[in-house]
Amino acid sequence: MKIIMLGGPGAGKGTQAKMIADKYGIPHISTGDIFRANLKAGTELGKKAKVYMDQGLLVPDELTCDLVVDRISQADCGDGFILDGFPRTIPQAECLTDALKKRGDSMDYAINVDVPDENIIARMSGRRACLNCGATYHIVNIPTKVEGICDRCGSPVVLRADDEPETVKKRLDVYHEQTQPLIEYYTEQGILKTVDGTQPMDAVFGAIVALLGE
Ligand code: AP5
Ligand code: MG
Ligand code: ZN
Repeated sequence: MKIIMLGGPGAGKGTQAKMIADKYGIPHISTGDIFRANLKAGTELGKKAKVYMDQGLLVPDELTCDLVVDRISQADCGDGFILDGFPRTIPQAECLTDALKKRGDSMDYAINVDVPDENIIARMSGRRACLNCGATYHIVNIPTKVEGICDRCGSPVVLRADDEPETVKKRLDVYHEQTQPLIEYYTEQGILKTVDGTQPMDAVFGAIVALLGE
């Protein structure tokens, strides 16, 4: 099963993608997580990406496309994968379509997690992320057991630099301008499915599982 998660910043792509990856036993590929891991490891890619991410802007397509095409060529992606945060522009979508076409393959589903901008701003200000292991929490919806400490690895959880309210507004603008056109792109490909992302997490997950089947 080859799935794309679409949706604005904070729509819940990552939350749902992790649950889907677990249920179906396929790798969860988040370009945002890959960039953050590179940032933390101090790689050239990480240094380049940081400049864009901290401003709420997209990392240039040429840095992103090759990375994903390379990742989905690895052995663990043989039975499928779930892309979270990629593609985010029409050129990225075309690059993905072309790379798969070369192998006689194509994506199965593009799931649009639909959440209005107003809800997003409230969610993001409550999100806390562990920069060590990638786990995410929400101060109200999914609190850590011990305040400020990751349940999974014991490191501190923090407000991501790009979750500051001004940066979230910029990310929403960028989403509407550059990513939203993908809804039409995947509608034309006949694989777009939309779920109401304002429901509680388990209800969103249930709706996605119902779309995908067992
Ligand atoms: P990325 O990490 O992908 O950020 P994003 O798309 O802005 O999305 P988020 O991770 O912030 O949100 P999400 O939808 O995963 O929501 P989550 O599940 O965490 O990208 C970061 C940056 O990297 C980009 O800005 C860009 O610079 C760069 N980048 C990445 N990919 C790129 C690409 N392809 N091209 C170019 N640049 C790229 O949920 C959010 C919060 O809401 C959490 O606190 C969660 O607990 C809570 N929540 C989730 N679901 C629910 C629910 N149903 N009800 C209530 N609360 C909920
Ligand atoms: Mg995410
Ligand atoms: Zn952790």
